[in-house]
Amino acid sequence: LHIIHISVEMAPIAKVGGLADVVTSLSRAVQDLNHNVDIVLPKYDCLNLSNVKDFHYHNNYFWGGTEIKVWRGKVEGLSVYFLEPQNGFFHVGCVYGRANDAERFGFFCHAALEFLLQNGFHPDIIHCHDWSSAPVAWLFKENYVHYGLSKAQVVFTIHNLEFGANFIAKAMQHSDKATTVSPTYSREVAGHPAVAPHLHKFHGIINGIDPDIWDPYNDNFIPVPYTSENVVEGKRASKEALQVRLGLEKADLPLVGIITRLTHQKGIHLIKHAIWRTLERGGQIVLLGSAPDPRIQNDFVGLANQLHSTHNARARLCLSYDEPLSHLIYAGADFIVVPSIFEPCGLTQLTAMRYGSIPVVRKTGGLYDTVFDVDHDKDRAQAQGLEPNGFGFDGADAGGVDYALNRAISAWYEGRDWFNSLCKKVMEQDWSWNRPALDYLELYHAARKSL
Ligand code: ADP
Ligand code: GLC
Repeated sequence: LHIIHISVEMAPIAKVGGLADVVTSLSRAVQDLNHNVDIVLPKYDCLNLSNVKDFHYHNNYFWGGTEIKVWRGKVEGLSVYFLEPQNGFFHVGCVYGRANDAERFGFFCHAALEFLLQNGFHPDIIHCHDWSSAPVAWLFKENYVHYGLSKAQVVFTIHNLEFGANFIAKAMQHSDKATTVSPTYSREVAGHPAVAPHLHKFHGIINGIDPDIWDPYNDNFIPVPYTSENVVEGKRASKEALQVRLGLEKADLPLVGIITRLTHQKGIHLIKHAIWRTLERGGQIVLLGSAPDPRIQNDFVGLANQLHSTHNARARLCLSYDEPLSHLIYAGADFIVVPSIFEPCGLTQLTAMRYGSIPVVRKTGGLYDTVFDVDHDKDRAQAQGLEPNGFGFDGADAGGVDYALNRAISAWYEGRDWFNSLCKKVMEQDWSWNRPALDYLELYHAARKSL
């Protein structure tokens, strides 16, 4: 099959959240299965071009009176076309955050379809994502379905229904198949007016992570390469490096990590509670968080200052976006806490497990589908052919966090051998795209059959 993703994010060159990771890692997995994949992306001025190989000018075309220059390059082995409209739409800002985002991305979607048409592409599947490339679905059906692109089927993936519900509703209506990023989230949103009329073509497929991009045996940002065979030594070296780097006490304590966008979705009050609970239990806490909302940012700056004077040896809040540091935290932490209020899939718990860190999560969306509590979910795990791999809680109050985190930290203090074997076990679970990529291919084929 020939699959073209039209997206406004792509890791690592234009990443805001997990959508960027998914576009890259799903594409790589499908390409590895011998299918042909291209990605069409806006050419932002802020693109990190050092991660683009063989970047060069490709050609130009005109659409709606605007010249669009096309650049081409390889990102993580994937073919990417970068569209640079000469109206300056992508010379400002970095991905989101402009007042006219809907207009900018709407223009991009239309320009992308026009690019495919004018350049004689005949894809089998056009895959678009979230509100930002949702317009592809209806622009295609309204303007392109009868022309050269006619054999294409449109697949639309909802990564987060919180944003752009009207756009998502319209894309749901016009797409041939639609997905969201976990089975549980697909059930949680099944009654939403944007989704409910389209359940017959809507599927929940769990995300994976790219095992080559996230690989503790081959990671430039951690001191000692490790696999499940030497997980204890590997993680000890990373923990020490993390403690040294952040100026924490170099001690053998349970280390709790949190890596997140600091937004309502991620459970701000529960994150704060997890910080205090960890400190009360004698652990160390490292938070890496970026807050788009300045009020939340200021709130956490205040908390960081407070902790600096009261718990300087055991707490560090890094209020930035820092990919290299995130690798060292995944490797150096004993636990990664993800107390999201809702979570369509969540990638941090999967990455945590790849690095032998134990997830402690609120049981919602994809967190429910991927984390199985060692005390409560043995049967549910077994039904998936898995062993329990973490700690979970329900509810959205402090008591839930306490319940999961207390058990996790006690297990660390009281049963180091058991805890170490759990780390080894979670590293050996497969949360890559191996299985979900096949589910996507089945869906792509099913879309073609309905032609
Ligand atoms: P979402 O897309 O809702 O933010 P996901 O869990 O799907 O949540 O994806 C988040 C991705 O962004 C993960 O790859 C995570 O490692 C990364 N990430 C989140 N916050 C930061 C940060 N402050 N610094 C570096 N990476 C981050
Ligand atoms: C969204 C969701 C997150 C998901 C990611 C990738 O950002 O918030 O749960 O993992 O998309 O699909």
